[in-house]
Amino acid sequence: MKAIQLTAPSLCAFRHTELPEPTAGRGEVLVRLRAAALNFVDVAIATGHFPAASFPMIPGTDGAGEVAALGEGVNGLAVGDRVIPHFMPNWQGGAITPGAVAAMRGINLPGSLAEYVVVPAASLVALPAHLDFIQGATLPIAATTAWNAVRSAAVRPGSVVLLLGTGGVSLFALQFAKASGATVILASSSDDKLERARLLGADHLINYRATPDWHEQVLSLTDGRGADLVVETVGGATLGRSLQAAAVGGTVFTVGFVTGTLASVDLMPIIVKALRVLGNNTGSVADLAEAARAMAAHRLVPVIDRVFGLDEVGLAYAELNGGGRHFGKLAIRL
Ligand SMILES: NC(=O)c1ccc[n+]([C@@H]2O[C@H](COP(=O)([O-])OP(=O)(O)OC[C@H]3O[C@@H](n4cnc5c(N)ncnc54)[C@H](OP(=O)(O)O)[C@@H]3O)[C@@H](O)[C@H]2O)c1
Repeated sequence: MKAIQLTAPSLCAFRHTELPEPTAGRGEVLVRLRAAALNFVDVAIATGHFPAASFPMIPGTDGAGEVAALGEGVNGLAVGDRVIPHFMPNWQGGAITPGAVAAMRGINLPGSLAEYVVVPAASLVALPAHLDFIQGATLPIAATTAWNAVRSAAVRPGSVVLLLGTGGVSLFALQFAKASGATVILASSSDDKLERARLLGADHLINYRATPDWHEQVLSLTDGRGADLVVETVGGATLGRSLQAAAVGGTVFTVGFVTGTLASVDLMPIIVKALRVLGNNTGSVADLAEAARAMAAHRLVPVIDRVFGLDEVGLAYAELNGGGRHFGKLAIRL
């Protein structure tokens, strides 16, 4: 089969290659991949900022395709079914455990930049009927995380949700939060992106470059109350302000590290406002399935900035690595 290998932690180390087609064993499925989507962690691996198991490896955390063959003992699936293989195939549901998050596609398991992949049948989620392969490929990491964020704070009509930036997680969170009836405040570096976010339903827009003390703007927009949920996708540079922007009893859903993992913060807002600072590591297959059902129920369509060809993988990674040029997701057609 045709595949792309990353031979070293370098954006210049992608290699087109031919590999033997894998075979589905008991309880497994051979998937013909049709699309992949990039996440920040893909770039972190390809730049040596996140450890991969070994090189060469087939990169690509997220993808979608169709069932090509069934291993022994697999029921409920048929050749040709459109499916999304989850990024963490061992975490089928329930609480996080070390074993659940130990196996990750595109990190220490074969990823999506190949014609075929073998995955456990139990790690597959049906691709929502209203989405194509490219749209479906964007769901495993970003939509699952955004779905878990919105659920973690029981977002409902009247809730205020603060989103930072216009990357994949933020825009899925925008869609889920609006579908739940929340008021959304979104901060971005660009007025043009803010306008696009407004068209997607964001209620209040803040340019965080023009307004560096954006947490004060959040408080003033909410009559001093703050946000019930802050989806902290940015990391070191913003955590302190996110804590200040949160409402009493609010949730700061802490997932991102685009500006690094080290933060020096004032603990007082956490203590005084009894904040829930929640970590999250993507989510289970069941969480992805719920996120996909929510997309289907509300006819939500992932926001995709650009689709690259298989001969443009290096370009796609470089675009994401450029930081903040994109709006939503970057995908690769296989
Ligand atoms: N732990 C988990 O479960 C989990 C799951 C998914 C993702 N993540 C992490 O979450 C982060 C976001 O993921 P993603 O896929 O959405 O990334 P992404 O698509 O690369 O988006 C990142 C966005 O962050 C915004 N940004 C950068 N600096 C900012 C700042 N100082 N203030 C506000 N916004 C800023 C930019 O938006 P503008 O261009 O609009 O300014 C940029 O587009 C990454 O670190 C990723 O690894 C974690």
